[in-house]
Amino acid sequence: MNFDLTNDQKMLQEEVRKYAQTELAPLAPEIDKSGEFPWASIKKMAQLGLLGVIVPEQYGGSGFDFVSLAIAIEEISRACASTGVIVAVNNSLTTYPIVQFGSEEQKKKYLPSLCNGQKIGAFGLTEPNAGSDVAGMESTAKLDGGHYILNGTKRFITNGGEAGTFVVFAYTNRELKHKGISAFIVERDTPGFSLGNHEDLMGIRATANCELIFEDVKVPKENILGNEGDGFKICMNTLDVSRIDIGAQAVGIAQASLDEAVKYSKERKAFGQPVCNFQMIQSMIADMATQIQAARLLVHYAGYCKDKGMQRFSKESAMSKYYASDIAVDVARKAVQIHGGYGYSKDYTVERLYRDAKILELYEGTSEVQKIVIARELTR
Ligand code: CAA
Repeated sequence: MNFDLTNDQKMLQEEVRKYAQTELAPLAPEIDKSGEFPWASIKKMAQLGLLGVIVPEQYGGSGFDFVSLAIAIEEISRACASTGVIVAVNNSLTTYPIVQFGSEEQKKKYLPSLCNGQKIGAFGLTEPNAGSDVAGMESTAKLDGGHYILNGTKRFITNGGEAGTFVVFAYTNRELKHKGISAFIVERDTPGFSLGNHEDLMGIRATANCELIFEDVKVPKENILGNEGDGFKICMNTLDVSRIDIGAQAVGIAQASLDEAVKYSKERKAFGQPVCNFQMIQSMIADMATQIQAARLLVHYAGYCKDKGMQRFSKESAMSKYYASDIAVDVARKAVQIHGGYGYSKDYTVERLYRDAKILELYEGTSEVQKIVIARELTR
């Protein structure tokens, strides 16, 4: 067994960490406050090859593996959780399904602009009345000559307000239940497509989270991903990949929380000495560091399963996302606790980290959904 990262992975980690700590971390409090989508950072990350990490070089990507993608997302999220999920959604929820299920024409047409920062991607799955229950979606796409006519509303769409290319799911045949769902690539400027409410979120506030409205949107027939009825499986396989990256985002947020807690505990004095000398603080720090290391190993293992070509890695991916999200919320809470009253103030980074962490247990499948996936894999 070899726990070492490869030389390429180590170089990537070093490069992303340096960039993220010098350029993304100083902007994080600002964009948390303003909610401004960090386009300048996105353009810079495109130059660093971080928007198409697993996309083959022939389509403008970096051609790295899935462990590398997790490493990059952890480092970006450690500096800025909003930027972390923006990049994760572009990589694993938009470029990945096109790489994996797209036709040669779709790959040539859509991947380069998603890798070079000209466009950002989004994943149109969740609806106002259907979140965990994917097959409960109401959107429809009806074939009419050379086009599908798409109708429906998608909600809580990360990057939605700024994205140029969307992977969208809708029923092409409702009678077939989940086997009647199809996936489409939809361009932003298609007539009938508009943006609805922008969400005013508790954390990850710079992610242009927005409602998407489709009213008789004519999607060219050739924009279907795979075949009619493939949508549910495309969606589940894509989420198997993207959940590894949310696990990585969780590890990044948790690591940032630990970094802040350790620094503060060495500076803050009480009863005549730094608070890091007190065993109750030490106990929290030891727990936090151990939780982070365990979560990171689960995330890397899930990425490794995908990299080595395992057909079904749903359990490994769900375990990494479930555990890493759970500990990230706990680690961020402990970091606030170590800061005492100051941790509750917006003047301290841990206040933002605690807010940012909560979403991890909700999006890309709630923690309850992850437990369903794990248990079903063990009992089927
Ligand atoms: N890969 C391939 N096939 C899969 C699969 C997988 N991972 N998981 C399930 N399937 C197949 C099953 O084998 C089954 O196939 P057959 O019909 O051939 O038997 C079929 O799909 C149906 O599977 P289930 O019966 O398990 O489906 P279900 O309706 O019970 O749903 C679920 C299961 C796990 C709850 C699923 O609906 C789910 O994951 N829900 C959560 C949705 C989610 O994660 N949403 C996140 C939104 S995206 C987001 O948050 C992005 C963002 O903004 C950051």
